[in-house]
Amino acid sequence: MNLDYIFRRRSIRKYTDKPATDRQIKYILEAAMAAPSAHNFKPWRFIVIRDRETLDRIARVHPHARMLFQAPLGIVICGDISISPERWDQDCAAVTENILLALPIRRRVDRVSPAQR
Ligand SMILES: Cc1cc2nc3c(=O)[nH]c(=O)nc-3n(C[C@H](O)[C@H](O)[C@H](O)COP(=O)(O)O)c2cc1C
Repeated sequence: MNLDYIFRRRSIRKYTDKPATDRQIKYILEAAMAAPSAHNFKPWRFIVIRDRETLDRIARVHPHARMLFQAPLGIVICGDISISPERWDQDCAAVTENILLALPIRRRVDRVSPAQR
């Protein structure tokens, strides 16, 4: 089994202007939601942000998210505490890792038909 995609994962904080397609984002979110969750509650919610002003506003208030000033897109991962008050944070960590591992392959998504997925 080739685990290179795990060993090659890196935090990237510089971005190109090329926008992600809806199809790429959908595929990434599907990969996210393939994560395990406590009691299978799946308490995650996602907010996909493309709006420049909204990304800039988050970058201004979040001291560790300055890279959003350059990023063309952000995904806010939210945990619904009414669904999983005890384990939402662990479940959201699992979906986050899935997203991080899925991102490097997003360029290949548009070459794969839905039937092949
Ligand atoms: C729980 C957690 C929170 C993190 N928060 C931030 C963050 O707010 N801003 C950021 O730029 N990186 C953040 N990171 C990324 C780490 O800085 C990064 O994973 C670490 O420096 C190792 O680098 P690598 O991801 O390239 O291996 C976070 C990582 C984890 C696991």
